[in-house]
Amino acid sequence: MNRPMKVLLTGGTGFLGEYLLADLLERGHVVWALYRSESRKLDTIRFLSSLGLPRSADSLHWFKGELLEADQKWDEWRREYEGLDEVDNLLHSAASTRHYMDENGEPLKTNVGSAKVLKGLVELHPMNVHLVSTAYVCGFVPNERVYEKHNPRGDFVNVYEESKWEAEQIWKDRATVLRPSIIVGHSETGRCTSFTGWYYLFQAVHLLDRLSREATDYDRHNLNINVPASPVGAANIIPVDYVSKAAVRIIENAKNHNKVFHLTHPDPPTHQATLDLICKKFDIGGINFAGEGAPFTQPRNRIERMVWRQMQTILFYFSNNPIFDRSNTDRALADYPVPPMTDEVIHRVIDYAIEKDWGQAGA
Ligand SMILES: NC(=O)c1ccc[n+]([C@@H]2O[C@H](COP(=O)([O-])OP(=O)(O)OC[C@H]3O[C@@H](n4cnc5c(N)ncnc54)[C@H](OP(=O)(O)O)[C@@H]3O)[C@@H](O)[C@H]2O)c1
Repeated sequence: MNRPMKVLLTGGTGFLGEYLLADLLERGHVVWALYRSESRKLDTIRFLSSLGLPRSADSLHWFKGELLEADQKWDEWRREYEGLDEVDNLLHSAASTRHYMDENGEPLKTNVGSAKVLKGLVELHPMNVHLVSTAYVCGFVPNERVYEKHNPRGDFVNVYEESKWEAEQIWKDRATVLRPSIIVGHSETGRCTSFTGWYYLFQAVHLLDRLSREATDYDRHNLNINVPASPVGAANIIPVDYVSKAAVRIIENAKNHNKVFHLTHPDPPTHQATLDLICKKFDIGGINFAGEGAPFTQPRNRIERMVWRQMQTILFYFSNNPIFDRSNTDRALADYPVPPMTDEVIHRVIDYAIEKDWGQAGA
């Protein structure tokens, strides 16, 4: 392995961040984890303990602070936390993953703000910088091939994508850009702590299952729901364990620094295949992907109206199906294959989500 890194990690208490933290420690690196909430830190410590980490008392250091003040606070922090001054790599995973703007200006405030602040920090304390971005900085480009380079400003589906694109621009060619697609649960355990995006459709089907059990006059095998998206399109889902392990392996090698990497699935399941699997699981029938531009069938009753409302908010996830080129990633990770998204993996991921009541039951 390459020389151990001393990594300043942001977002280490998040869904992906916990795995990044675990993999960095597992591979012998020293981590300085910036955090803001004691309870989230405790959850992360519990998660790490379940994996038998950290193995050495010197390998993990926590320090509490406000990310958006990191440049102003740096001198104070490095005086307060002995050894922080030695960090040589910054892995920036913290982000607001809100898709639509709130009254506090999120997600732009955190996502663009932190990119600017960390630039100021790196001027004070030079280090290699690695940004966790998203493959969807490409915007709305259905069925087009997207390459591992900086994209021009696109037709963004939501302000979150725009905020991540702007953050990339701030660091263009001066940071390694790690672009995961839609991150889902662990391929071996299903574990997930952030049930957004792709999970919503299956949550809607699960809701339909529960509601239609109560309504005896409702034909659950003939729902007649047409979703206006292509059945052969595929939401690019990728298990969190792959994203994390791939990210750590990529940044360990200096040859990869300052390049762009798609941490995406080369063979994601089609919408229809996934939906068939889920309908079978819930014993429901009559939901179809009717093709792009097809009319959304009108709800006929209260149950359908509830499910409709949920589905309409997620339609974009199923309409935007870029094909992500992975040349840089495949070159960098020739000996680290992507786990296939088998039916077994999808069942595991969905079962875990149900067990956790789609995120309402705690991780
Ligand atoms: N999940 C996906 O499907 C997906 C796909 C592609 C890319 N990504 C990218 O992957 C990265 C991790 O996403 P995730 O799903 O792990 O998100 P997450 O579970 O929501 O975690 C976000 C992390 O960022 C921290 N954070 C948010 N706002 C902050 C602020 N103002 N100051 C300090 N820390 C802040 C959170 O801290 P607290 O714990 O204190 O809240 C948490 O540790 C993000 O950069 C995201 O854009 C995610």
